[in-house]
Amino acid sequence: MAKKAQATWGGRFSAGPAELMLKFSESISFDARLAPFDIQGSKGHSAMLAHVGILTAKERDAIHAGLDAIRAEIEAGKFTWSTQLEDVHMNIEQALTKRCPAAAKLHTARSRNDQVATDMRLYFKAACTDLVQRIDAAQRAILAVAEANPDVLIPGYTHLQRAQPVFVAHHLFAYLEMLQRDAERFAVVQDHANWCPLGSGAIAGTTLPIDREFSAKQLGFIDDAGRPRVTQNSMDAVSDRDLYIEFASACALVGVHLSRMAEDLILWMSAEFKFVDLPDAFCTGSSLMPQKKNPDSMELIRGKSARLQGNLHTLLTLAKGLPLTYNRDLQEDKPPVFDSHDQTAICLEVLAGTFAGMKFHPERCAAAVADPALLATDLADYLVRAGVAFREAHHAVGAVVKLAEQKGVPLDRLSDADVAAVHPKFGPDWSESFILAKAMARRTGTGMPGPAQVKRQLARWKKLLG
Ligand code: ARG
Repeated sequence: MAKKAQATWGGRFSAGPAELMLKFSESISFDARLAPFDIQGSKGHSAMLAHVGILTAKERDAIHAGLDAIRAEIEAGKFTWSTQLEDVHMNIEQALTKRCPAAAKLHTARSRNDQVATDMRLYFKAACTDLVQRIDAAQRAILAVAEANPDVLIPGYTHLQRAQPVFVAHHLFAYLEMLQRDAERFAVVQDHANWCPLGSGAIAGTTLPIDREFSAKQLGFIDDAGRPRVTQNSMDAVSDRDLYIEFASACALVGVHLSRMAEDLILWMSAEFKFVDLPDAFCTGSSLMPQKKNPDSMELIRGKSARLQGNLHTLLTLAKGLPLTYNRDLQEDKPPVFDSHDQTAICLEVLAGTFAGMKFHPERCAAAVADPALLATDLADYLVRAGVAFREAHHAVGAVVKLAEQKGVPLDRLSDADVAAVHPKFGPDWSESFILAKAMARRTGTGMPGPAQVKRQLARWKKLLG
């Protein structure tokens, strides 16, 4: 039943927590992954304590050696985590105490509140670097597909109805733009993480003569000029979770982007489109229907994006009703953050792997894009070039479309006389509007899918992604 009061905070207790309470309140099952950051934070903090004379150099060195040994033990998988000790902070401190007496001074002028805030900021900086690298890898995989299919045209869609022709590379470059903004968002989150909360204590700092700037420098919380960046309000520093929400939001947006890409690939792989074949390695079969090859990797990405949004929502709701400052509710901030990180990471990897093995079917793409109706707007532009107002041109081409439908012929198979009867400005060259290569070449402006632009964008992305 009730346990003996714990050493770290048990002084005013006559009984320890119930087994059920230990099981309920532990966080070691998920915050153990903060260990490298917790150790880094403790080394920075003890270096500062020695710097201001609270620890001797010898005590600091003993603490550092002990922490290094614990780190090695953890990395080797030999460290035993105990739920009795609640969380990563107390597990490591306890292990250190067993090794060196100076450990009893380590928690001077520190609370688990500013400790966990520091650990998480160090973690976020590393997590953002990790995700930016994975975004980069996914972008490279997409770019390689664009580069391998420079001449393939497909219909672009609005309302999932064929709209206008685009080079598939242009479509893929749209994904690169989305991912580029995602990477920029993580860079912003990383910058927001780069403020050191250490020294905020539990809520109101400390009466001891610490040097917060020294700790910040030790831990790499510095600006571009190498100046330390320390948080400016102790109450905000231990209770703010904006950063967590921003991180989860950036992950959720990656999820939305990946989900839209996944949806395109799922459609493109269906027999109805058959623009692409996805690699066997990222598809699965049916236990019943022998012929099936399903794009499960893409469907799971679409599904996991829901989970990423859920994590963001969890964090928003977690923070909204809390009075300042720290409340134990906040321990629940970690599972959604870690899950968002892990799921975003694996989704990016799976997307890259799927793109790396995907193959376009050029003949299917060519057949789909051959529909002359995709260039109806070009026909209206033809009239505009002949001096007709666009609204009038749009109406005339609409009538041409209707006529073709009535006659049961493709748009470009109507006779010159038929179209001239619809509008006198249709000259004998009207049907040249349907020459695909010519039509594409007319799209010369920045961001348009003309061949010269696509070439330019390819060069731009190759340079950007190195
Ligand atoms: N495991 C705790 C958390 O993640 C650490 C902070 C505990 N602070 C406290 N006052 N009980 O929130």
